[in-house]
Amino acid sequence: MLKAIIHGAEARGQITALRCDAIFDIIAFVDRNRAVYSKHKEHVYNIPTYYDFSVVKELDFDFIIVCSKSFEEVQRTYATIYGVPWNKIITFENLVSERCVNRLCAVANEVRRWKVLGAVAEVGVQYGDTARFLNLFFPEEKLYLFDTFCGFDENDAKIDLEKGYTIQETVDWFDVPIEVKSVLDKMFFPQQCIVKQGYVPDTLEGVDDTFSFVHLDCDLSKPIHDSLEFFWPRMNSGGAVCVHDTYHPRFTGVRDVVWKFSKKHNIRYVANDAYGGVIFIKP
Ligand SMILES: C[S@@+](CC[C@H](N)C(=O)[O-])C[C@H]1O[C@@H](n2cnc3c(N)ncnc32)[C@H](O)[C@@H]1O
Repeated sequence: MLKAIIHGAEARGQITALRCDAIFDIIAFVDRNRAVYSKHKEHVYNIPTYYDFSVVKELDFDFIIVCSKSFEEVQRTYATIYGVPWNKIITFENLVSERCVNRLCAVANEVRRWKVLGAVAEVGVQYGDTARFLNLFFPEEKLYLFDTFCGFDENDAKIDLEKGYTIQETVDWFDVPIEVKSVLDKMFFPQQCIVKQGYVPDTLEGVDDTFSFVHLDCDLSKPIHDSLEFFWPRMNSGGAVCVHDTYHPRFTGVRDVVWKFSKKHNIRYVANDAYGGVIFIKP
């Protein structure tokens, strides 16, 4: 298991420790707030708490997870003064998709706690800003990355435009070519990645694997539908399919497809945040 230090021993840090304890072996907290440090130095969850950044020189770890608002400042200090490589200092907090990463972390942690094996996939990778965390949460698993890397398919978009699920302005927003290399450069374990560039469902053909965790974030009704139908029979028991943006007001087709899929197969999902995703767990 990857070893991690959590920077920040207050509520955020403690919640993170519990939310990722099947992903990371949390070996220490560091907290520069004297009051917090004094309160917790007796050990939070039996994990030692340190006051000085310099402790990182003595500890053997893979990542520092920063659970405080001043990520950039903390990252700079660890990197420039204590020589920790920049890409080993991470945060799940002050990102555009903060809620998304925290949610996926919690679900991934449960999948790992139950020791569900199988490959991981994301459909709708774009710049890889979520995929890199899937790669981190499942470092030993293959990670399939499905995307055209040049935006929506015209016919998929037409279907959703005609049904009033979305509007042209939103469709156009995604019409940007993305260099696959720049996506792979973001990954923590790029050797685990299998890039499936092209149109879904075409690129699903020939994928001969079973899965433990799948993240669907392709916004339009057809690729969401095709992906659900493809992955569900290939999910191992206890595996999770997370569908992002189910309640997105600009992609209302996602909610329709999720509901119809659920009814057709008589399977249930849970919604775990007001705006973002729903989760199916394979029985
Ligand atoms: C919202 S973005 C994904 C964002 C990404 N998951 C993240 O968290 O940064 C949606 C992506 O889905 C891709 N996409 C949509 N329909 C697709 C299809 N039929 N085949 C392949 N990719 C598709 C688009 O190219 C776009 O990059």
